[in-house]
Amino acid sequence: MSGPGGSVATGGASREGWEQAAKPSGSAPIRLADFEALALAKLPPGWGAYYSGAANDEVTLADNIAAFGRRRFLPRIGVNVEGRDPSVEVLGRRWPSPFMVAPMALHRLADPDGELAVARACAARGLVFSLSTVGTASIEDVAATGAASWFQLYLLKDQGRSRELLARAEAAGHEAIILTMDAPILGRRERDIRTGFSLPPGVSYANIRRGAIKRDDTYGDDEFKPENTWGDLAWVTQTTRLPVVVKGVLRADDAVRALDLGAAAVDVSNHGGRQLDQSIASIDALPAVADAVAGRAPILLDSGIRRGTDVLTALALGARAVMVGRPVLWSLAWGGEAGVGLAFDLLAAEVNLALGIAGLRTPAEASRDLLVSVTG
Ligand code: FNR
Ligand code: LAC
Repeated sequence: MSGPGGSVATGGASREGWEQAAKPSGSAPIRLADFEALALAKLPPGWGAYYSGAANDEVTLADNIAAFGRRRFLPRIGVNVEGRDPSVEVLGRRWPSPFMVAPMALHRLADPDGELAVARACAARGLVFSLSTVGTASIEDVAATGAASWFQLYLLKDQGRSRELLARAEAAGHEAIILTMDAPILGRRERDIRTGFSLPPGVSYANIRRGAIKRDDTYGDDEFKPENTWGDLAWVTQTTRLPVVVKGVLRADDAVRALDLGAAAVDVSNHGGRQLDQSIASIDALPAVADAVAGRAPILLDSGIRRGTDVLTALALGARAVMVGRPVLWSLAWGGEAGVGLAFDLLAAEVNLALGIAGLRTPAEASRDLLVSVTG
């Protein structure tokens, strides 16, 4: 499979058009989950395992998906949904659809243009990108793509260097700081242990000193601060003028504490199951967080978003928007910038469709009564 193929014309009623549309589409991806197998077929096994894997027995990885399946919609009928508007406003910017790119390490394993290819696909659509501290493109080069972007900070031991990263992000025009607080030390990713994953030659971090993400519970570089405390959050909120989004919240009390210390938003996340295995699925953690936050600040959610209906579920349970993780890396590996663009377009179309069929004209109309839980 070489890359995104041409789309099939289905509009016409001609016999030719019908025949083309009726043809099996082979391996062309038509939903985000499709990109995984396509990416794994292209990538060296250790790199694909790093992207797709998670901690220990990957219970949380699986549950992040399964938890969406434990809910069913109660769609509304009788609503005119023509001209509905899927856009949302988050921290002062209007997003065309309620999703952004989650911060993730090492995009250059997937594509030589790495983060820049993803940022360009965002720029073309008005979507928001986020750059990881362990990213492989510089803070400045990402900003130069023209994409609205947030910078994700992992605190460094040397506070002066953390301060420099914050200052660079601000100077380059990034619009928010994501402080990830659930990964002061890495979870045990057993796929990485089996493959012996380490940073391959030719791929290096663009914003911090060289080091390897090692397999033995550390980043393999002593420059990361092995503890992240509430004091650190207070320091970050006081050090940057940008809004700070705390990522990795699963508890209502932690969400409130983050806001009390100056966070502008929280991201409900279990890091895609890569940290503490058997942590609660993000979507299961969301309702209690939303109750505690009670509209004080926007809530984001990530971990397991694969469908427009997942986005709708998150909105209904109190998220303003979501972050999309692995599907971005998979689609990048499959088809570069165009591949990521296809993934974005598929998800945006699914969101718009789900909203409409659910009988909603805007994301803000999604409320808890849209859902029931089912067991089994
Ligand atoms: C991540 N994630 C992550 N988070 C973060 O704050 N900083 C980082 O550098 C990374 N790096 C990273 C690398 C890879 C390969 C993955 C898959 C994930 C976590 C990410 O932001 C997000 O929380 C999860 O990816 C969400 O789960 P799904 O949707 O990918 O299953
Ligand atoms: C990961 C780190 C880098 O999940 O956040 O691999």
